[in-house]
Amino acid sequence: MRMRWLALGGGLGWLALVLIVALLSDLGAGSAVLFAALGLMVVAGLVYVQSIPARITTAADGVRSALPAKDAPVSATFDDEVLAQVTTAVTGAVVPELKRTFRQVEALHNLYAMIDIEHALPASRGWPASPDLLLLLVDLVDRHRPRLVVECGSGLSTLCLALAMRRFGIEGKVIALEHLEEYAEQTRELLRRHGVDDLAEVRTAPLQRLAVGGLSVEWYARDAWQDLAGVDLLFVDGPPSAASPHARYPAVPLFAERLTPGAHVVLDDFQRPEERDVVKRWRRELGDRITLERVPLEKGAALLTLA
Ligand SMILES: C[S@@+](CC[C@H](N)C(=O)[O-])C[C@H]1O[C@@H](n2cnc3c(N)ncnc32)[C@H](O)[C@@H]1O
Repeated sequence: MRMRWLALGGGLGWLALVLIVALLSDLGAGSAVLFAALGLMVVAGLVYVQSIPARITTAADGVRSALPAKDAPVSATFDDEVLAQVTTAVTGAVVPELKRTFRQVEALHNLYAMIDIEHALPASRGWPASPDLLLLLVDLVDRHRPRLVVECGSGLSTLCLALAMRRFGIEGKVIALEHLEEYAEQTRELLRRHGVDDLAEVRTAPLQRLAVGGLSVEWYARDAWQDLAGVDLLFVDGPPSAASPHARYPAVPLFAERLTPGAHVVLDDFQRPEERDVVKRWRRELGDRITLERVPLEKGAALLTLA
């Protein structure tokens, strides 16, 4: 503050001095005013520079007062609407997903305890069967000791079925039908690595158009399966639905006479409308010969038992 008064006094003194010099000398009035203005600008600059530290201090004080005091308890307030959205997201999506995931982890633990796994397994879920379905299949092998298992669509499930056959000492075989050579070879390699290639066979069966039950569907080539009879467990997990609508429908009509009394048929992805329709057709065609149990697995499964 004192500096400002000094600057103001100096500025006025400078102005007076310039005017006196102008009056006593030959300097024109215009030049005198110019000198005076220059002097005042220098003084104003000095005043401003002098005030900068004080301005910084004031700004810092403002910021400091807006922050919570050091060691003060943290208090958070949420907008009610945001809080409602977060709650809905957690209860509607996160909690169900955690429950689903827990069920799969639980099923995996159970599965690992039932079959001896000595080498790495490929990932489950997605294209391959989910752990809860693999557990259902292994449990069926445990309870019913099938001697011939036929599977439509090879992969991790083929391995788990073969490992179950070995674990329960069943003198039988798993035959997997696979339309793509790439996946057939992958599954064969998996079986070799786990030492169960004597218990399971993967047959490459390109898709061919068949007329079944009034539908025209792409299904596994007849050569690959027509020798099969006495099937105790039929697992239907292929061909993929992209092959043709009702891609999985032919399995039961074509195998109905090849199934043993009391045989089981498992259909994956029973949550999908197309698979539900497939089961409706099977029930319509086989009537009392089959009973249906809907198994609440993550992708849904239909478990049919032949009378
Ligand atoms: C649902 S998958 C069969 C999965 C098998 N039962 C298992 O548990 O691993 C049906 C068919 O999809 C094909 N497939 C498997 N993995 C695939 C992938 N990652 N991308 C595209 N097709 C795949 C194979 O031809 C397989 O027979």
